[in-house]
Amino acid sequence: MAIRSIIIAPDPRLKIRSKRVKEVDETTAKLMADLLETMYAAPGIGLAAPQIGAAIRVIAVDTARKDDEPTPLQMANPTLLSASKELWTYEEGCLSLPEYYADIKRPAKIRVSYLDETNTKREIEAEELLATCILHEMDHLDGILFVDHISALKRNMILRKLVKIKKLKEQDAA
Ligand code: NI
Repeated sequence: MAIRSIIIAPDPRLKIRSKRVKEVDETTAKLMADLLETMYAAPGIGLAAPQIGAAIRVIAVDTARKDDEPTPLQMANPTLLSASKELWTYEEGCLSLPEYYADIKRPAKIRVSYLDETNTKREIEAEELLATCILHEMDHLDGILFVDHISALKRNMILRKLVKIKKLKEQDAA
């Protein structure tokens, strides 16, 4: 396993639609392990493959509290089977948009199918924080960031600030 670097927005690699995996073979399983390790190291509760530069439909999620047993989910080709009409609001953040947060409304309960790290087909029912986290990561697979759910005005303000921070970092590195 290896910790990969996380791509910071704005970046065209975060805006593309990722490809489905044919099966979870050794290469995909290795990427899933890297994704999970990178997520834990950040630390974060979710990470999607395109955020580490792999345009495939793979996500990692673990919403367990810090002092509880880890509950890692490694999901390939996550597919939404059903979503409640009832919504749930959470102040979301994203490892690709460091230090920015916004209240986002998403379905409170979902059912999702996926392939796990052993290529076994599974289904999961999730609610509230876990549902939000899975949906946030699934959005990444379609090039959607949480800021795409808020007003363009607020989104552009956040992205402009991130561009400034990136430029400062480039100057420091030069
Ligand atoms: Ni994210």
